[in-house]
Amino acid sequence: MKKILFVLLLFITYVSCKNTIEPRKTGLITKNAMVVSARSEASEIGSNILKKDGNAFDAMAAMQLALAVAYPYAGNIGGGGFMVYRKSNGDIGALDYREKAPLAATKDMYLDENGDVIPEKSTLGAMAIGVPGSLAGIFAVHEKFGSLPIEDIIKPSIDLAYKGVIVTQKQEARIKKYQPYFLKANKDSILFDKAWKMGDTIKYPALANTLERILDHGVNEFYKGGTAKRLVKFIQENGGVLTEEDLAKYEVKWRKPVTFKYDDLKIISMSPPSSGGICLAQIMTMIEPYDLNKFGHNSVKSIQVITEAERRAYADRSFYLGDPDFVNIPGDTLISKSYLKDRMIDFSFKKATLSSDVSHGDVQVVESDETTHYSIVDQFGNAVSVTTTINGAYGSKLYCSDLGFFLNNEMDDFSSKPGVPNMFGLIGAVANSIVPEKRMLSTMTPTIVEKNGKLFMVVGTPGGSTIITSVLQTILNVHEYNMTMQEAVNAPRFHHQWLPDEIRIEPNLFDDTLIFQLEKLGYSINEKDSPVIGKVDGILVLDDELLEGGADYRGDDTAVGF
Ligand code: DON
Repeated sequence: MKKILFVLLLFITYVSCKNTIEPRKTGLITKNAMVVSARSEASEIGSNILKKDGNAFDAMAAMQLALAVAYPYAGNIGGGGFMVYRKSNGDIGALDYREKAPLAATKDMYLDENGDVIPEKSTLGAMAIGVPGSLAGIFAVHEKFGSLPIEDIIKPSIDLAYKGVIVTQKQEARIKKYQPYFLKANKDSILFDKAWKMGDTIKYPALANTLERILDHGVNEFYKGGTAKRLVKFIQENGGVLTEEDLAKYEVKWRKPVTFKYDDLKIISMSPPSSGGICLAQIMTMIEPYDLNKFGHNSVKSIQVITEAERRAYADRSFYLGDPDFVNIPGDTLISKSYLKDRMIDFSFKKATLSSDVSHGDVQVVESDETTHYSIVDQFGNAVSVTTTINGAYGSKLYCSDLGFFLNNEMDDFSSKPGVPNMFGLIGAVANSIVPEKRMLSTMTPTIVEKNGKLFMVVGTPGGSTIITSVLQTILNVHEYNMTMQEAVNAPRFHHQWLPDEIRIEPNLFDDTLIFQLEKLGYSINEKDSPVIGKVDGILVLDDELLEGGADYRGDDTAVGF
């Protein structure tokens, strides 16, 4: 017995020593400026723009293009996105450059004669394409806030496209995985049909030419000029309905971000047509009364509280949220403390709530699969948080070889049929039904956090429906569980979205006892279907005003700064 006790004591001493001597993981630390994105090439280009005395908005525009070249999986000019910003003087705002439904779109365009959803019609090929907003977005940002000439913004990506980009190990695997879909979506062979291997260089001359024409003739080249004509011809030849009028009519929207308090933090996040800000506000307000710090990171109690708040927020999302230019969203009520207190009234630590017992809350409406995120803090103190997407991996898989880019399949983010899940398992209702020129509901959650009135964190992630919950956990990891930016990004993540009624967890990162305890409380755990939950890129302002970058190890993400 004595021997066992001694061994036990030794073990405890070892574990506690291990905890105290193990260094904390920190990301890159810089003094002046920092960018974090999905590819080192894009981060280098962003950082160089800042070094040239450009500001965060110049870098935003340059990095959107650089990611279109270096990260065709999600980076794009054939998709759309959202930007949230906080200027050094504290001014905040948001830009919506989300895709829109084409004029010829109809509510039932993805249904057959029996009213059933036609498989793949909203995800694969030309019918899935929404009117792209990315170029309109970056030109709007540059015009309003940029300081460098547009050549300085576009030229680095033209050069990169000519020079080519080296295939990483993860990229090799991704290309291989999606090749069967490229064959299915494209009539002719495309650049990505080749058996690209790690270390190969892929050059993008067609994309370089497109960017050159845009540099020469301005953004109208893409929306009204020769490039517009070529793009529309290509889409229509492939069976799509997008017209020149659709491109000509595209416009971005400057929006007011969603803001709310959590302890001493002020969170600034994306407003509709993204559900990100409202859902994040709902979840954080529902969990604020609980002492997560005391419960501990990824403890049963923390997971329970967060899961139950997520369940209720995603139920509201599916009913109330859509494009604010088309539907009335009771945003203030949805994020009010009294409404959210009521939403959690039936939560108990003793037992999981069933999603079948949770519907959207009762609010009086007064009439009247791939994405990428990048975070920027510049040397002037401006912060920019951008999430941009073509939706699925390589979007619709339809690649315009003439112009050199993939087109989005963002139409799948609409609710094709009420109650039928989209590719992320998200369910929608009338608020997110298809209407010509409407923007499809998003989960993208580019977010900026202030602490005591000062810039504290810039954060965001891809991950479809898991975006909101990944951003949430990253903020909590820093604020509640005292992690560094890098630790917060690295930490294992879980996710609940009301339906299906399960907690998805990253495989092999949660211990069996914890899973067992949650299952005993009535939670269904899905460890299989979530190879990755989010791929977070964030920047934290440290106490001494230095910047710490958190680049997600789950991808090829890289922080660069000076
Ligand atoms: O806007 C949205 O919510 C989706 N189109 C995002 C897609 C996404 O994050 C895919 N990445 N894994």
